[in-house]
Amino acid sequence: MSEVGAASGKARYRLEPGGTVCGELRVPGDKSISHRALMLGSVAEGVTEVEGFLPSEDCLATLVAMRSLGIEIERPHPDHVVVRGRAGSAPAGHAGGLLGLRQAPGPLDLGNAGTAIRLLMGLLAGQPFDSTLIGDESLMRRPMERVAAPLRLMGARILTQDGHPPVRILAVPALHGIDYALPVASAQVKSAILLAGLTARGRTSVTEPAPTRDHSERMLGAFGVKLARSGSTVSLEGGQIPRAAHVEVPGDFSSAAFFLVAGCLAARDRLRLENVGVNPTRTGLLTLLRQMGADITVLPRGTSGRPGAGTAEGGEPVADIEVRAGALRGIEVPEALVPLAIDEFPAFFIAAACADGQTVVRGAGELRVKETDRLAVMAEGLGRLGVEHELMPDGLRITGRGGFGGGTVDSRGDHRIAMAFAVASLRASAPIEVLDVANVATSFPGFADLARAAGIRIEAVGAG
Ligand code: S3P
Repeated sequence: MSEVGAASGKARYRLEPGGTVCGELRVPGDKSISHRALMLGSVAEGVTEVEGFLPSEDCLATLVAMRSLGIEIERPHPDHVVVRGRAGSAPAGHAGGLLGLRQAPGPLDLGNAGTAIRLLMGLLAGQPFDSTLIGDESLMRRPMERVAAPLRLMGARILTQDGHPPVRILAVPALHGIDYALPVASAQVKSAILLAGLTARGRTSVTEPAPTRDHSERMLGAFGVKLARSGSTVSLEGGQIPRAAHVEVPGDFSSAAFFLVAGCLAARDRLRLENVGVNPTRTGLLTLLRQMGADITVLPRGTSGRPGAGTAEGGEPVADIEVRAGALRGIEVPEALVPLAIDEFPAFFIAAACADGQTVVRGAGELRVKETDRLAVMAEGLGRLGVEHELMPDGLRITGRGGFGGGTVDSRGDHRIAMAFAVASLRASAPIEVLDVANVATSFPGFADLARAAGIRIEAVGAG
């Protein structure tokens, strides 16, 4: 059987061309914030309530992992989680903090979730017990040395398999703080080091080459952990015990991104997205779409969350976003914006294909080590739908001609690529079929239903 033939047996989307989108939508909770709320709540003193939790496969993998590490977590409602934190106390000689976790009975399976495995590496690096972290086929191919290397500098004992999972973390008596300059702009690496820094003796500092999402810093603040920021460096003192917080998770900007692009391409009147997180370290796509000429209005709602113990900076900015359709023009993407839109490039490439003229993205080699090689898989799909493009080692050049032909696209199990090509149908001249879409549930449960309600002519077939 050909590769496409094999994939067509799995869940797929059938999309009829055309259609318009309109109305008011709410996308599910933010994935990055949901993972962090579970992890910090687990090692905090007291009971953390998380509202607006994202009940996706990735976040549920973190929830199951924290339970395996001895934490009691209840879920009275799919998006309401109660975490009974176990801050623990330090044995003599240990730096203290985060010591309420227990050794898991077996390997922790994080499924498709890169954020879960990398942040957990940080949380588990300084524990007095061994852990093994694994995941699905995609996760087992993703690079882990970028996290393991700085943690080893802190005194951790971590083994990877040629740089990939399984990740074996061996018990250590204690870690010590480091001053680390990140070689790649990665919020996951930054966050792992900061979490490890909580268990370490002394001060841990991380310097980023370019700004990346700062949810960990904000949430540590909300849990009463004192951080110092100076320019591109963030530092904390080890041994601080997080205190439970009330976390209100806003809608995920990365999920809203598909509807933002849909609205730019085909809003009838306007599409309104409610209660979306608009942390400026996440909203690079807004800037890019506006540079292309998009008509987008952001209506701030204030700040989510009631910082439990800590500072007013614990919250996340939230807004309603309105988008109207209009002509887009091709742009050259400023490299500094790449980390601020890192998960939105699949959706952005769809907008670029509908714009007038060339769009060029460079300095985006990180896209090659996401759930799939997103440069290659997007290029392949764009080609199948008749879009002229050039794949470069660190980017993509797309010649926009207003839309797409029809055809079959293989998402290769990448949730964001599947959703991006669903949006492409709004500007297609013939039906599109998107293969291997089951992993949409890792970040956006209910996507097909919400997309259909908005006006996308989508049918999910062969699910499960
Ligand atoms: C994330 C950081 C980003 C992003 C991922 C979520 C996070 O990864 O792509 O989906 O929650 O910290 P990198 O830090 O590897 O760029």
